[in-house]
Amino acid sequence: MSSSNTPHTPEKVDFKAIQQLMSPAMTAVDQEILQQLNSDVVLINQIGFHIVNSGGKRLRPMLVALTARALGYQGAQHTTLAAVIEFIHTATLLHDDVVDESDMRRGDDTANAIWGNAASVLVGDFLYSRAFEMMVGVNNMRVMDILSHTTNAIAEGEVLQLLNINNPDTSEAQYLEVIRRKTAKLFEAATQLGAVLAGEDEKTEAALATYGLHLGNAFQIMDDMLDYMADAEQLGKNLGDDLAEGKPTLPLIHAMCHGTDEQTNFIKDAIKNGNREAYTEILAIIKSTGSLDYTAEFAKKEALLAITALSNIADNEHKKAMQELALFSIQRSY
Ligand code: IPE
Ligand code: IPE
Ligand code: MG
Ligand code: MG
Repeated sequence: MSSSNTPHTPEKVDFKAIQQLMSPAMTAVDQEILQQLNSDVVLINQIGFHIVNSGGKRLRPMLVALTARALGYQGAQHTTLAAVIEFIHTATLLHDDVVDESDMRRGDDTANAIWGNAASVLVGDFLYSRAFEMMVGVNNMRVMDILSHTTNAIAEGEVLQLLNINNPDTSEAQYLEVIRRKTAKLFEAATQLGAVLAGEDEKTEAALATYGLHLGNAFQIMDDMLDYMADAEQLGKNLGDDLAEGKPTLPLIHAMCHGTDEQTNFIKDAIKNGNREAYTEILAIIKSTGSLDYTAEFAKKEALLAITALSNIADNEHKKAMQELALFSIQRSY
């Protein structure tokens, strides 16, 4: 992204510094995750440890802890909730890689590539239900309310997305509805839960939820852009998986509205047929139609909306890290 020559565009965010700030909290979260992965069913342990140990940015659990701290929460309940959020995320990844037929994630073979689709789906279910066991242990109706609605919305988002597969007539509004549910809702839950833990009033809770929702939108829009233009090794995933699956993401939707008839028809065919071979030509088209720039700008607007939502929160180093994370979501290369 050409952020360096745009006026008022901030410096590159130091994600490592944010990880450093949150390191004590995240060490506790990782311990909780490893402990809760345990099952006497060997395959569950194998697959669970495979995906958890292959890394991941731990962005969503970090947001639970960061939000709680930014609002002055001093307790320790964020550890369990952060682990719950990461389990839900991990379950969706296991399922997503089956649906998307992806064979690389976090720089490693996907679970479905190693153990097959059935095992991935079933262990995803284990993680979902373990997350709910842990959540019930927290014994807070507000928390259960948020998380149950969130997982339901994610499932709806995934099904909506399925309906848009191979459909080149998918509108920008339909695309935005999918990403809001499948991705942004979990970010929203993470930050809202931080506010709930801190015992905030309704207005502040809503502001934090808004921050998470826009951050999640920015994050997924960038993810859809990175599927066309990232360095696969840095990203830890294959490029072109979206195209291979016939997924109408924002760069393609924009290009079909602004390209020549020939370009538009080429993209339509690639979406209808899920054609990975069309990758190079599609990349040239979405560059020439300004669709990558449009997508980056869209993500940036969402990140700025996230930051704006924090305007009534008192300044402190954790709030600053939240502002930076919104920018990291659009500057990231992995
Ligand atoms: C991947 O999320 C799934 C999307 C919503 C795009 P992340 O990029 O946060 O995945 P990990 O956890 O860091 O691997
Ligand atoms: C995110 O969409 C799906 C989830 C919310 C699990 P993608 O399909 O683009 O995610 P990646 O690129 O496989 O991580
Ligand atoms: Mg995928
Ligand atoms: Mg993706």
